[in-house]
Amino acid sequence: DVTYETLLAETHGAVTLLRLNRPNALNALNSQVLRDLIAAFAAYDADESQRCLVLTGSEKAFAAGADIKEMQPKGFSAMYGENFFAGFERVSAARKPWIAAVAGFALGGGCELAMMADYIIAADTAQFGQPEIKLGIAPGMGGSQRLTRAVGKAKAMQMCLTGRMMKAEEAERASLVAQVVPAARLLEEALAQAQAIAAMAPLAAMANKEMVNAAFETGLAHGLLFERRLFNGLCATQDKVEGMAAFAEKRAPQWHGA
Ligand code: CAA
Repeated sequence: DVTYETLLAETHGAVTLLRLNRPNALNALNSQVLRDLIAAFAAYDADESQRCLVLTGSEKAFAAGADIKEMQPKGFSAMYGENFFAGFERVSAARKPWIAAVAGFALGGGCELAMMADYIIAADTAQFGQPEIKLGIAPGMGGSQRLTRAVGKAKAMQMCLTGRMMKAEEAERASLVAQVVPAARLLEEALAQAQAIAAMAPLAAMANKEMVNAAFETGLAHGLLFERRLFNGLCATQDKVEGMAAFAEKRAPQWHGA
């Protein structure tokens, strides 16, 4: 297991578990957290033995936002010059699947980071929000776009304009999260789903992720074409041959990853 300053990383077979670990700041996302996340996600994407990842926080907070104390002295030139949040694009660009397991606060950048995941599983204690307006700012890591795509204009606009929090149950109803589970079972459930994904053919997992993501980038006709091309491509893999043979022979498939 690798050690990062602000992240705890463990492997559970083919699943990487990352825990944000800045308990004194409710896991606020400062530049060290960003550096650690970039390194951990790059390591995950590059490691052929790892097939799914779970990112979680603590019981109290997934992450309470970008680090306000770090942002406080930064004006336009510093933010624009450094392109302060751009590093998070490396996290959202992970090619392999990952799940955010959210308990407690997921606010501002914390909500935005969770929304970069392929999907979110929430504890019944989870609270999501984009409270940036209360600081005189607005979301800066994708909240206005990803939240709106997830929950639609009415709720996204209400949340961004009032800064109110959305509890887990409402978040599931609004399709922000895939599922809500009792807090005590959050990690167990997220890891079980990650293990199930990790047991799939890895190229198929990447392709499924890529296709669903394409739905947010294209019109329907191009999205369908993208899907069909990738589907046809998967039919040229050894794992398609193996998967269908295993079905016909009523046995478990042995994936080749090719
Ligand atoms: N940045 C830096 N430090 C933070 C933080 C943040 N986003 N959120 C919490 N902390 C720190 C607090 O300052 C406090 O530290 P001290 O003990 O040193 O004072 C510690 O974490 C514990 O927090 P609280 O005492 O405030 O805990 P609470 O239970 O009373 O309240 C909370 C919890 C409602 C989440 C509250 O901490 C809060 O409102 N946090 C800020 C939420 C926020 O505004 N997030 C958006 C940030 S802007 C952003 O994210 C921009 C973007 O889009 C990228």
